[in-house]
Amino acid sequence: MTRVIREAIAAEGPLPFERFMALALYGEGGYFAAHTLRSVSSGDFLTSPELSPLFGETLAELVGREQARIGEPFALVEVAAGSGSLLRPLLRARPVEAWAVELSPAARAALAELVGAERVVGSLEQIPGPLRGVILANELVDNLPMALARREAAGWVEQWVDREGDGLVFVDAPARPEVEQWLERFAGPVPPGGQVEVQLAAAAWLRAALGRLEAGAIVLFDYGDTAEGLARRRPEGTLRTYRDHHLGPPPLDEPGATDITADVDFGALQTIAREAGARAELWRQDELLEALGLRERVARLHRRERELARGGDPEERASLRALREGAETLLHPRGLGDFRVLVARV
Ligand SMILES: C[S@@+](CC[C@H](N)C(=O)[O-])C[C@H]1O[C@@H](n2cnc3c(N)ncnc32)[C@H](O)[C@@H]1O
Repeated sequence: MTRVIREAIAAEGPLPFERFMALALYGEGGYFAAHTLRSVSSGDFLTSPELSPLFGETLAELVGREQARIGEPFALVEVAAGSGSLLRPLLRARPVEAWAVELSPAARAALAELVGAERVVGSLEQIPGPLRGVILANELVDNLPMALARREAAGWVEQWVDREGDGLVFVDAPARPEVEQWLERFAGPVPPGGQVEVQLAAAAWLRAALGRLEAGAIVLFDYGDTAEGLARRRPEGTLRTYRDHHLGPPPLDEPGATDITADVDFGALQTIAREAGARAELWRQDELLEALGLRERVARLHRRERELARGGDPEERASLRALREGAETLLHPRGLGDFRVLVARV
């Protein structure tokens, strides 16, 4: 992979970080281009739908409410659908026409079995007709390529990627106008030396998705916060890699072998959604799942476990306990419950 990036630098000169990130994640030999499913329990990170089928099952309630609100025709689209671990329980609880948008070949093969190969596509544009329904994505936006910028006393400097010896290094470059504009609008207070991930691709993706949606909702789950919430993390920035469920090496060290990611600026996404004419709300994941009934489901599981403790089937009790503990992890206020959710309705 480093070879592909070094060749790109030989041809194009130093690369803006978002170009490097796009190659490292989605280019030939890239992290998500490999024939390995990344978001599974044996993979590099464990996501909400991989952790518990109750994530998808709970979101079936949200899909049902939207269906009641906008009527037919109605379709569900999951973007970055991974192994299908969100769609599978959701569709079991609420069978609706479903599409999956994925770039990873390994994930596309798994999704074809779930929704049919003709409904697995590479982008929203490939779904025919105007869209009415719900577009869901869990942990998509944190992987969309970002530019990197540093606050200097005199203004903003970008960090680009160049070759040095056999490796890759960051080099400073003047901030491009679109990067400066995003920073001025969304970065919030950043101390000198502080680093910001500039989420231009996320903004473009959301605008395009809202442009495709005639009626319904876009629901985006991810780690991140508003600029205010991210302020204390600006001194070092939030760019990082994951491998084997742990933080991985610095992003330039092993491109293609690590997941490159950063916290999502949800304040920017909310503003962009509103500018596009949507009614946009920000939720915490624990609060949204609670509003959709997950805490009541946990209480019901608990009650049934107690009944089974008085002479019921131990295997059934163990499986209910596992289900309940998975749901509690989705709601954990300092873990997955602390994820943010953008709900943008049109
Ligand atoms: C962190 S995984 C999340 C997978 C799944 N949503 C989950 O929660 O388990 C990110 C996924 O996003 C996919 N992806 C990244 N950019 C994408 C894009 N522009 N369109 C569709 N899928 C994308 C990757 O292939 C990968 O499967």
